[in-house]
Amino acid sequence: MPAPASAKERPDSTGASAVPRHVAIIMDGNGRWAKARGLPRVAGHREGAEAARKVLRAAGEAGVECLTLYAFSSENWRRPEAEINDLMGLLRFYIGAELNSLHREGVRLRIIGDHSAFQTDVARLVDDAVAKTAGNRRMTLAVALNYGARAEIVRAAQALAHRAAVGEIAPAQIDEAMIEGALDTRDLPPLDLLIRTSGEVRLSNFLLWQAAYAELIFVDTLWPDFDGDCLRAALVQFKARERRYGGL
Ligand code: IPE
Ligand code: IPE
Ligand code: MG
Repeated sequence: MPAPASAKERPDSTGASAVPRHVAIIMDGNGRWAKARGLPRVAGHREGAEAARKVLRAAGEAGVECLTLYAFSSENWRRPEAEINDLMGLLRFYIGAELNSLHREGVRLRIIGDHSAFQTDVARLVDDAVAKTAGNRRMTLAVALNYGARAEIVRAAQALAHRAAVGEIAPAQIDEAMIEGALDTRDLPPLDLLIRTSGEVRLSNFLLWQAAYAELIFVDTLWPDFDGDCLRAALVQFKARERRYGGL
């Protein structure tokens, strides 16, 4: 096999100097963080948004090309309406407050999931932010909004089935690359590292297809306490992993 173009592209077998191109994080534990302090859950979400800001900066400095953050799952609609409204309010606030600095720093915002289900003003703010930053190249921040991996795979299957039904492709032509090309993550680098905070050890319907060969790291830290140092510690762990992809 030819050597990778750069160490950054793919870790070698010793993992030396490997920086993951794409890191995804299940930002969990905001509610427990708040509860431990006798605060309302929304205070945990607010602090969680601060953590996201710190981690984005640290990821950019470390040379990570793409950071994907799980902000709202397709199952989070099961929460009380008041909490959903708090989360929408925070999203509205942070897009307003952060958009200019994201843009200035060359960050391209991408959304995975179906945010059209959000309140119209929030959905529009998100669309405007995506459009404004579309040409930025320093780094990509992908935010998962109303995201569920199973729903994403269903949408991809429907899109491919439609192309087959109109005779554009033959069913037998459908391969892994075509499915990847129909997923929400189609223009993101392959997922290298998936981190979940708060001690829960499950994927909660996040990036199920993309995680097939990602390295997984579960930490007990609650998301609002996660910071640049925690990310750097995860990157050190990643570096020590030997990725074999089924080979030797
Ligand atoms: C993660 O924190 C944020 C979202 C799911 C929006 P949680 O709100 O799930 O916090 P815990 O898990 O209840 O502590
Ligand atoms: C996963 O966290 C979703 C996000 C972090 C946005 P949850 O708190 O919703 O996951 P479960 O319910 O513990 O599986
Ligand atoms: Mg949770």
